Amino acid sequence: MEDRMISGELQETDQDIELSLRPETLKQYIGQDQTKRNLHIFIEAAKMREEPLDHALLYGPPGLGKTTLASIIANEMGVQFRTTAGPAIERAGDLAAILSSLEPGDVLFIDEIHRLPRSVEEVLYPAMEDFCLDIVVGSGPSARSMRLDLPPFTLVGATTRAGLLSAPLRDRFGVHSRLEYYETEALCSIVERTADIFHVEIDFNAAVEIARRSRGTPRIANRLFKRVRDIAQVKGESVISLETTQEALEMLQVDAEGLDYIDHKLLKGIMDGFRGGPVGLDTISATIGEESQTIEDVYEPFLLQIGFIQRTPRGRVVTPKAYAHFHREVPGT
Ligand code: ADE
Repeated sequence: MEDRMISGELQETDQDIELSLRPETLKQYIGQDQTKRNLHIFIEAAKMREEPLDHALLYGPPGLGKTTLASIIANEMGVQFRTTAGPAIERAGDLAAILSSLEPGDVLFIDEIHRLPRSVEEVLYPAMEDFCLDIVVGSGPSARSMRLDLPPFTLVGATTRAGLLSAPLRDRFGVHSRLEYYETEALCSIVERTADIFHVEIDFNAAVEIARRSRGTPRIANRLFKRVRDIAQVKGESVISLETTQEALEMLQVDAEGLDYIDHKLLKGIMDGFRGGPVGLDTISATIGEESQTIEDVYEPFLLQIGFIQRTPRGRVVTPKAYAHFHREVPGT
């Protein structure tokens, strides 16, 4: 699958800008007010007790700032931020090596924690609960179990799929925070902040335009901003205008709702081929030539979120709202 301009997943070209833009404190972090309020209280309380923060689970769609929040937690606690990811920890020994190298109070961030192998998860339980490692030394009849003490630490786990986490792992997190898609206003502030860091001026309405087309996702907003800035620069614009922004987004094939050609293909496939549905996922898959799993995991979530598609027992249905977006009449009305 090629990289889509409006995908929330991290792409190679995002990495450098994300690092330079990453807010360092809760105050600098825009949006997610509920999560910020809770974290602020938990962090202050933990600092007063001179204890590490409870283990925290951050979940929600990609691109909303889970890694950023985790690094802010470490920063606000005044400890080191160590990061790894579920798929990178293949064996229990890999995890043991990381855990035993932590300093007291450190934040260990495990991205995509739902992809930790089961055998590794089992090592994590006593580490989270009692700050110790149970390891087996030797083999056969002489094998013995040994308990190693670990420094107290905070595990911050991130996942896009909280439902895939095993119950015992989920239950060991004291703090659960779901990150929500951002409102246009918050995204607009993020675009303005990014412009500021890049020493570029942007018209307010241009920032709103980028925000509106970013699918509630800062990563997408920043990616679109970067491309819009390039075009404004080539045109020799000193302040990025609304006109240039619209032109750039048109070139990038991102429409007014943040939909791209794949969204269009999916929606038009159902409207043109099946009078808007209901139609089964496998039939859609065969019609538009995309895998069912990809449609379900990657293409559909945002369309469901904005109410352009509904899931019914008889299959997918394109809603009147989507028909209106394409300036089309709903069949049979
Ligand atoms: N850059 C990306 N996400 C951000 C956020 N939530 N606040 C501030 N800057 C950001």
